[in-house]
Amino acid sequence: MSTIYLASDHGGFNLKNTLVQHLKKKGHDVHDLGPADASSCDYPVKARAVTDALLNDENAFGVLVCGTGLGMSMAANRVPGIRAAVCTTEFHASYARAHNNANIICLGERVTGPGIAIDMVDIFLSTEFEGGRHLHRVSLFDK
Ligand code: RB5
Repeated sequence: MSTIYLASDHGGFNLKNTLVQHLKKKGHDVHDLGPADASSCDYPVKARAVTDALLNDENAFGVLVCGTGLGMSMAANRVPGIRAAVCTTEFHASYARAHNNANIICLGERVTGPGIAIDMVDIFLSTEFEGGRHLHRVSLFDK
């Protein structure tokens, strides 16, 4: 089981809640960092809540949801040590972990339906980083 921090903006609010419920049901240690309602809010602020949590809990994963997944990933990837991957397919979710050692999956509620989003998050959490040559490449991100 994994520790997972989730947050969204208003554009990702419903999908974030769906994922919180799903991950709790599966028995993960789930931390919903908001928002608590769908009022308009700023995605960089919500992304920062999750990146701060991950910097203090290095084995945990993050899930960030906005309308497209793009703004969340841009905001999160400005933080050294964070590797946030926008995923729209199960293949993305798998390789984001296996080759890129992503620690955050970013999803777009206006892009991806809840069924595929759930499958992608499950794949993301259950796929191990392959290390080896990928470890060297990933280490270059923060050089
Ligand atoms: C909000 O309207 C929308 O811009 C936001 O959710 C996100 O898609 C930004 O990247």
